[in-house]
Amino acid sequence: MAIDFPPGFELGVATSAWQIEGDVAGRGRCNWDDFSERPGAVVDGATGEPACDHVHRLEEDLDLLMWMGVDAYRFSISWPRAMDGDRLRPEGIDFYDRLIDGLLARGIRPVATLFHWDLPSELEAAGGWPNRDTALRFADYAAAMGERYADRVDRWATLNEPWCSAFLGYCSGYFAPGRKEPGASLAAAYHLILGHGLAIERLRSAGARNLGIVLNVIPVISETESMDDATRHVDAVQNRIFLDLLAGRGVPADLRQSASSVTDWSFVREDDNAVLSAPIDWIGENYYSVMRVAEPDLDNTAAIGQDTAAFPACPPLRFAPRPPFTDMGWEILPEGIELALREITDHLPGVPIWICENGAAVEEVTDADGIHDAVRIEYIDDHLRALTRAVERGFDVRGYYAWSLMDNLEWASGWTKKFGMIRVDPETGTRTPKDSARWYRDVLAARP
Ligand code: FCB
Repeated sequence: MAIDFPPGFELGVATSAWQIEGDVAGRGRCNWDDFSERPGAVVDGATGEPACDHVHRLEEDLDLLMWMGVDAYRFSISWPRAMDGDRLRPEGIDFYDRLIDGLLARGIRPVATLFHWDLPSELEAAGGWPNRDTALRFADYAAAMGERYADRVDRWATLNEPWCSAFLGYCSGYFAPGRKEPGASLAAAYHLILGHGLAIERLRSAGARNLGIVLNVIPVISETESMDDATRHVDAVQNRIFLDLLAGRGVPADLRQSASSVTDWSFVREDDNAVLSAPIDWIGENYYSVMRVAEPDLDNTAAIGQDTAAFPACPPLRFAPRPPFTDMGWEILPEGIELALREITDHLPGVPIWICENGAAVEEVTDADGIHDAVRIEYIDDHLRALTRAVERGFDVRGYYAWSLMDNLEWASGWTKKFGMIRVDPETGTRTPKDSARWYRDVLAARP
């Protein structure tokens, strides 16, 4: 049965700069270039070169988007491609001009994210996000992008998933820059939202419209009552620190207390509140899965969560996802999307929501007839249906962007995990639509 989308519901696909662009020589270096060159940091040793070689294959990729029939394309601007210190980098600006104009010429709305984790190396070297100055530099970059593209970008996101930048980057060290400093990760979380708020103000002054931020609110579910405190802690680090700051409530009081052994919170300034909670026009949610918090299994320490739970103030716990799983080991739970929507709406009532990423790394079967990825189709179909049911129940969701247009560098997993609806051969760069690409194209075309 066809999916019944609300009138005007926007459908698209998403990518990010470091994961697809390649052409490292055409830009400044970033934290992910440095990190990916460290032995062992990325499982298969992949680096940002050539990724999907998107910079050189721009026209082909634009044509694929048009073939798919998307309403909108969510991409990210690489800060070190667009800027060289505080100056615009002409070749980079020319590239994003061609990308944006190419989308508009094909009737596709450009949705730009300013920071999808690729921080210029010199800013990382100067301390990165734990350093307040990075937020100020980010605002300058946002202003420059606003001045250049406000007339043509339809929707702006300041940050993508600040939780990953803060906690995977500076606490578990699983992502760039690979630091393992819990106190610094909290300062990073705070300065990311500060940078976001400053950027919103600067973008608005530059005349940019539809300004928001993309979070990955992950519903945290307690498996037993005995785990309620641990669940609350995980929710504070994963979700509430960001939602509370955006909502003008400051750092959650329980987190302030529980993390006092790793930070004195001296980076928090009471007069930042208005900036942290600068009014936004929309909020993005990247939904993939939920987190289930269970009793620790002390015989099996490997099962104890390494990311949010690497945080020292975290009570002992175990993450216990339930099958079915994707190739990432993430539980598949389409109804969980409504839990995420509720947590967002509780904090930011009246702010419309876009699902900015959703998709799956799954097993694919290739034969003479093509690339068969039935599990991906089922995953996306089930999530779209769960989402439209949530909209019927009153959640104000206006759009959905599938992750991802094409296979790409899956961060620390390199090329080993594939989320694309279009296959990219990592050796040749050849693009081949999978079954899911044709299926999504049909879903888009079937709308009234
Ligand atoms: C999200 C990221 C995106 C991609 C997907 C699978 O956390 O925003 O770049 O890696 O996960």
